[in-house]
Amino acid sequence: MNIYLTGFMGTGKSVVARQLAQLKQWPPLDLDQLIEQREGKLIVEIFKEKGEPYFRKIEKQILKEVAQQKNQIISCGGGIVLDPENIALMKKTGIMVCLTARIPVILERTRGLGHRPLLLVDNPEEKIRQLLQQRQPFYAQADLSIDTSDITPYEVACQILRKLNL
Ligand code: S3P
Repeated sequence: MNIYLTGFMGTGKSVVARQLAQLKQWPPLDLDQLIEQREGKLIVEIFKEKGEPYFRKIEKQILKEVAQQKNQIISCGGGIVLDPENIALMKKTGIMVCLTARIPVILERTRGLGHRPLLLVDNPEEKIRQLLQQRQPFYAQADLSIDTSDITPYEVACQILRKLNL
């Protein structure tokens, strides 16, 4: 069984994954990091040079690889849910958790960082709103959802373990 952390950019997946990993003594894996390692390029460069469909192909491939192992905390990129086969695989090999946050919180957490190609636009707030609306039905398929806006990553991790009886 794995724990998959999904949810929009800036909802805290990577930090919560590290907290969960410490609490559970399971290794944390970050799919975006694995993609960058595999390609030898930053995510922004992959998007720019090869395009989003290529990125999604590698993302799906790496998810398939990591899903073969058990007892890992896996933080996924925000768009992993766009492919229904990814959702099915996560649910088959673990628990799909979705982290959420209010739009102003997402905006604040992602502002000025520059490593997220989808938010490198003139009006990131509008883009966040649009993407969240499009993705809402996909994130809604998670086994458990937690709003991270007002609590620490440690508290989020504790809530996840408590709610899952782990
Ligand atoms: C994406 C989210 C990013 C990264 C890529 C695309 C998305 O990951 O995978 O920039 O489509 O929401 P984070 O959610 O970890 O920022």
